[in-house]
Parts: sequence; structure tokens; C-alpha cells
Amino acid sequence: MALTKTSRVVIIGTGAVGSSYAFSMINQNITDEMVLIDLQKEKTEGDAMDLNHGLPFGSPTKIWAGEYSDCKDADIVVITAGAAQQPGESRLDLVEKNTKIFQGIVGSVMDSGFDGIFIVATNPVDVLAYATWKFSGLPQERVIGSGTILDTARFRFLLGEYFDIDVRNIHAYIMGEHGDTELPVWSQTRIGLEPLERYMSKYKPEGSKEDLDEIFVNVRDAAYHIIERKGATHYAIAMGLARLTKAILRNEKSIMTVSTLMEGEYGLDDVYIGVPAVVSEKGVEKVIEIDLNEQEMKQLQHSSATLKEVLQPVKD
Ligand code: 2OP
Repeated sequence: MALTKTSRVVIIGTGAVGSSYAFSMINQNITDEMVLIDLQKEKTEGDAMDLNHGLPFGSPTKIWAGEYSDCKDADIVVITAGAAQQPGESRLDLVEKNTKIFQGIVGSVMDSGFDGIFIVATNPVDVLAYATWKFSGLPQERVIGSGTILDTARFRFLLGEYFDIDVRNIHAYIMGEHGDTELPVWSQTRIGLEPLERYMSKYKPEGSKEDLDEIFVNVRDAAYHIIERKGATHYAIAMGLARLTKAILRNEKSIMTVSTLMEGEYGLDDVYIGVPAVVSEKGVEKVIEIDLNEQEMKQLQHSSATLKEVLQPVKD
């Protein structure tokens, strides 16, 4: 009997996001091998030891603090490294610092002979996913940004709380930039199979448009609120990255709002932006073009224009 191939995920950057992601991965038995890489070699060795000691309580995974040469046989390289937002800073403020850091990282990964899928989580994620696509020369479907997977999760969570319904029965997307210009797709939001407005008039007549607007503002500004309180956000994005990794390694064909290259979809091109897409072992298998109303389309175009402006130096 032929053994199936050993899966390997390399994590570059073992700060709060990278280490929470590693922890999430071993708790869900997602990969056979997990390699940790960071400039802080000792800290990374400590992380590998600590995670290994948890394995008797988890699932068999081979974990070590490694080198860029370990990327050669990796299925997925996840980049979480880079400067993080400070209180008051926007994601787009990080662009210059992190693009430089990415040039080095992506170059080193490609020098190893890597031929797998990149997942990019560092902010500004849409810009850095585009940069990774350019720097790596890999086909676009194999460079995926975490996009608005976290914003979509926050949106579903808050709507679930508001309507007192299991979050898994809330069908809603945040699209656009993972940042200040993102948009909620109200026109397609459903509770179970009921369109939001109909559900609200039947089961929550006391609810209002103002409440819904407030929910979206809390989604959009969630990172600011968390960073003010604890300096960083990491658990939820780590769980989202683990979910995305699983969708790839298990060829799940899950629909997630990832950041991917636009080539005419939604009338956009040459920009990475968060849209619903089918994720499989190929990476982004296809973009799903849902019907947006006029206002949502305008918001998406504005978000794309904002990203394109920030992207310009990366293209030059
Ligand atoms: C977040 O949305 C900071 O992008 C990070 O939590």
C-alpha cells in the first residue's frame, strides 16, 4: 500500500500570530510536519520545544525550529513576520517596512526551491500578498492573502450575537481591503436561508438599521479596539489561518473571503483584494462573483482604488 505524502507547513514569523497559529494547528491535527522560522532563533527553539511537549495531549506532528532550506519540500509557507501595528497606526502605515522585509523573506524561500503555496497574513495583507506574488513569480492561485477571513468571522460572530443564532447559520461576507475601506455585503446576508431584512422583520422587529450599522463599525474597527487593550490581535486570525491551511491540505473546496488577484472579476484588475473564492489543493481555485448592489460595488471599487494607490511603489 502506498503511503500518502507527508504534509509540511513552514511558518515564517513566530510572534503572537505565528505561535498561536502553530498551537491551533497541532490541536486540530492539520499537518504532519511543522517548521518554525524566525530571526529570533532561540525564541523559536523554545517555541518548538514547548509545542513538542504538548504532543502527548494532541496529535502526532513533527515540529522543529528550522531554516529556509526546509521550505524546499513544504506544501505551504505561511508568512506572519513583519512589523505589527502600534496603537493608532493603520494597517496601511506598515507598507514600506514590511515590503522590504518581504523582499528578503520571499527571496530566501524561493532560493530553497520551494514550489508550493504561500499564505500571507502580515499587514497590510492585500499589498503584501500582491508583493509576494510578484517577488515569487509563482502563479497567482498559489499566493493567497488571509484577506477578510477574519473580518467575515467577526461580522458573523456579532450578527450571531445580535440575532441570538449559532454563528454557523449566519451567512455573511466582508469584502475589500482587510482594513479601513472594507465593506459589508448586506444585500446578500442571510440568517439560515432567510434574507436578513425578512428575518429581522419577522423575528426581531425591534431591531434597526442603526444597530446593523454599529455592528459593521465594530467589525471594521475591531483590531483597533483589541490593540488598544492588549497590544495585538492573534487568536482569531491564527484560527482562520489554520482553517485556510486545512482547506488547502485536505482539498476541501471551501469558500472563504481570501485576498487574491483580480483579473476582471467585479470590474477590478491587477490588485489583490478580499473576495469570496473556492480554496482547494490548487490554492485559489476560482473567484466567486456574487451579486453586489450598486452601493456595495462602489464601495468595493473605492477599496480597490485605495489599495492600488498603496501598491504603486511595489509595482515600480
Ligand atoms: C486584525 O484585524 C490586526 O489585521 C489584524 O486583527
